[in-house]
Amino acid sequence: MAEMVKLFVNGQEVEVESGKNLIDALKVVGIEIPHFCYHPALGADGNCRMCLVGIEDGRPPIVPACKTPVQAGMKVLLDAEHIKKIQHDVLEFELINHPIDCPVCDQAGECSLQDYYMKYSLDDSRMRVDQVAKAKRMDFGCGVVHDQERCVLCARCVRFTRQITKTGELGIVNRTDAARVTIFPGRPLNNRYALNIVDLCPVGAMTSQDFRFRQRVWFLKKDASICHGCSRGCNIYIDHHREKYKDDIIYRFRPRTNLLVNGYFICDAGRLSYKEENENRQVTSLIEGRQAPFDETIAAIRQKLDQARKPLILISPDCSLEQMWAVRRVSTLYGASLSGFSDAYVKAGDGDDFLINDDKAANRRGLELLGIKTDRKSFIEALQKTDLFVNFNNDLHFSGVDEEIDALLGTVQSIAVCSHQRDVFKTASIILPIASYSEYGGTIINQDYVLQAFAKAVVKNEAGKDMLEVTRLLGGAVIDARHAWPGIRKSVACLADVDPAAIPAEGIKLQTGEDANVGA
Ligand code: SF4
Ligand code: SF4
Ligand code: FES
Repeated sequence: MAEMVKLFVNGQEVEVESGKNLIDALKVVGIEIPHFCYHPALGADGNCRMCLVGIEDGRPPIVPACKTPVQAGMKVLLDAEHIKKIQHDVLEFELINHPIDCPVCDQAGECSLQDYYMKYSLDDSRMRVDQVAKAKRMDFGCGVVHDQERCVLCARCVRFTRQITKTGELGIVNRTDAARVTIFPGRPLNNRYALNIVDLCPVGAMTSQDFRFRQRVWFLKKDASICHGCSRGCNIYIDHHREKYKDDIIYRFRPRTNLLVNGYFICDAGRLSYKEENENRQVTSLIEGRQAPFDETIAAIRQKLDQARKPLILISPDCSLEQMWAVRRVSTLYGASLSGFSDAYVKAGDGDDFLINDDKAANRRGLELLGIKTDRKSFIEALQKTDLFVNFNNDLHFSGVDEEIDALLGTVQSIAVCSHQRDVFKTASIILPIASYSEYGGTIINQDYVLQAFAKAVVKNEAGKDMLEVTRLLGGAVIDARHAWPGIRKSVACLADVDPAAIPAEGIKLQTGEDANVGA
């Protein structure tokens, strides 16, 4: 527990965490200090001077808040006339050569310069000479588009490529009003995290080729979720919107801070994986290629499972813990073999030492803790013996065709319960559409045994059912995610004390080792 200290802001006493700078410490108690260049992931650069505050203790009358640690008894001035004058002056400088093109700027609505001007300035421009023209719509690579005229030269983007990715593609060249951010000739951005620059840029100088001009940000509904792109489980916001008479569409994923999992950033592949939630979705139930009502399809699956001598159920390693538990119950009910085989989800060598993992499965730890076998040998043996293969959304082709498995699949009757149209589901005689992860809530456990909860964000017009609902209709006893927990708690020692409704935002680091192993 961090030590707390009391200090005064504009004469009012506040209690904040020691060891932080004034910007971060006061933000926690709802006090904003405007700033451009400081970012908690990048540290204090001290170049923008937007954060200057007064301190009444004999030190220089104004100090940058980003470089000033909180101290007990400190008297901070934010609303004094000379501080307001500084804020006006800094904003006036920033806007001298700014194009003021907010109506056509993609950052409008989430731009610090725009917000600070409305809050701390509202001055008319005193510029009576031509503005300095700079380059616009510069393709910096990796889907990042730069507008030099909107840049406030805070150097966050430059520091990101030097401190975080250590690729150093960006620099600031020239001085005074000729200063500008640029790439080196012929050397565009070339790292797998480049789009974080768009979030870091406090103004509209760095925009995303993928997102720009597609949606105004004030229309977007922002829901917290977890990326399912790999076993890191980065925290994200799902920004989505339903236009009148249209479907709910996801427009972007953005990073959500979780210091236990992903810090402040996400990878570009995970960020752009929002498209998979929109596209290629399985929306119709099919029996032998014929479109069939949902209830009829469920009944047909039940009948096949009842008739099968040795059914085999395969589950996706992306499923939530609750879904895995429910499918496990269904497999017991029908005397089926259960596998979580998912070697295809592992792309050896693709990971790095920052966020990206080789394993593209979101919840492999869940399979392990629930005691669901994932090895190839037992899966192949079960596939050789089975007369009915039911695939719960496992993309066996994730890394490409597996000829041995495909040959076996060609000899067996199969059913696919799936969220997307994939090659591997095409041979199924019955196909039942289900929700994808942005459309249901649950819990997953990342590679480091951090248990995290996520909630339903998107409601599609042609909504597939949650896999939990499908298992319930197949006769499983699990009614909803909450209802799965008494059994999960009893079965997995390290989850014995977990209340899924009380999982904190940063997740719970589970006790691992022998204690973590499955019980019943
Ligand atoms: S492009 Fe954005 S992040 Fe980079 S220096 Fe300019 S304002 Fe700062
Ligand atoms: S590192 Fe993995 S979990 Fe994080 S954003 Fe990328 S794909 Fe998603
Ligand atoms: S945030 Fe302190 S000088 Fe820029």
